[in-house]
Amino acid sequence: MKKYHIITFGCQMNEHDSETMAGMLSEMGMEESLTRNEADIVILNTCSVRENADKRFFGTLGQLKHKKENNPGFIVGVCGCMMQQQHIIDTLKAKYPWVDIVFGTHNIHMLPELVKNVETENRKMFEIWEDGGDIVEGLPAKRLYRHKAFVNIMYGCNNFCTYCIVPYTRGRERSRKPEDIIEEVKNLVADGVVEVTLLGQNVNSYKGGEGYDFADLIYDLNDIEQLRRIRFMTSHPKDLSDRLIQAFVDCDRLCNSIHLPVQSGSDEILRRMNRRYDHDKYLNLVRKLKASVPDITVTTDIIVGFPGETEEDFEETLRMAREVEYDSAFTFLYSIRKGTPAEKYEDQIPEEVKHERFNRLVDCINETAAKKNSAYVGTVQKVLIDGRSKNDIFTYSGRTEGFKLVNLKASDELIGKIVDVKITDSNTFSLVGEMIDD
Ligand code: 5AD
Ligand code: SF4
Repeated sequence: MKKYHIITFGCQMNEHDSETMAGMLSEMGMEESLTRNEADIVILNTCSVRENADKRFFGTLGQLKHKKENNPGFIVGVCGCMMQQQHIIDTLKAKYPWVDIVFGTHNIHMLPELVKNVETENRKMFEIWEDGGDIVEGLPAKRLYRHKAFVNIMYGCNNFCTYCIVPYTRGRERSRKPEDIIEEVKNLVADGVVEVTLLGQNVNSYKGGEGYDFADLIYDLNDIEQLRRIRFMTSHPKDLSDRLIQAFVDCDRLCNSIHLPVQSGSDEILRRMNRRYDHDKYLNLVRKLKASVPDITVTTDIIVGFPGETEEDFEETLRMAREVEYDSAFTFLYSIRKGTPAEKYEDQIPEEVKHERFNRLVDCINETAAKKNSAYVGTVQKVLIDGRSKNDIFTYSGRTEGFKLVNLKASDELIGKIVDVKITDSNTFSLVGEMIDD
């Protein structure tokens, strides 16, 4: 039996694409290899959102050269967002001749065909589709977890935030049909899944048909018996509707947690980022969410050092972080992306200034995160047990409805089950708990 190994960079979209690729390779009769050394085919699923992901990709690809030289039958495949950029393809052709298969974000379904062609004809396959085409339904997926699954509801992005490469690598927005999504979720539930995470670059602009929006989809999914939890990501603040806020109130399966990227707290930087909201509008949205759903957890993405960011602009971001009191945040140093409008902005921020601001922001975020977590001590939370923890002392880990990581003592039989847990301690990034006996 041939063995495959997939290395994934980047976001949940990519994680899920890798699950689909694993499903297709398994259907071809291959089995997964836990290490690249034992694999007959290695696939690198790339991310282009920031420069360090590019660097890590080329570094990993370089390491595969030796294996290919010693073993000409070994197949190297590369795919994902980076492949939608011509300058990357040119570099691959010029400097990485040991790559056998190249495909993009729009034609993942072709992987089996490309692998077969390489095997039988022993020639390189470069097959990259430009934007779009029809959504291919019904591809298999080999899930990372038995009890939880990612479900794509839409692909692409129309927002063109000026720093972001995604609209160029993932193309324009295309929504799946509600009936296809609902059927997929029902099949997953029949297969033992209790939690689904709906994925899209901006799920709030989902369009399932005339007058059918993301909130409608949530209400429909909430009717599926035996489904216990619904999550989604990512939301764009400009499109978050009152109906969706109401769905949090009405839908018992929708988890009270939202990832709402703010990117900056400064009106001027938000304008230059083309985010289409300002500080007050974002803050009012969060206040409205918290007023309707008091226990909702709010997380975010923030970019530090966007071109032209002054100390005053940055302080507006710190102010936002303090006002919202995020449960946690992903913080990023601004990274120039080729082909985006912000690449041409002249007032780029020096690296040392970016780093200094970044550290201040992380301190501010961590302080709030620790404070928010400590408020859970003494409460009882419903925790979905995911599996063994990476932590040495506590053996298992799971997530609360608000997506808080909890470490606790449990057992293998409880993986995939939702249990009542008393929170006994807290850290900046996680909680500690004890299961309550029935
Ligand atoms: N530089 C830094 N961070 C970026 N992100 C997207 N593009 C860039 C960039 N050029 C961040 C945003 C987005 C997250 C997925 O990655 O915060 O929400
Ligand atoms: Fe990028 Fe903005 Fe689209 Fe998010 S909404 S993927 S940041 S362009």
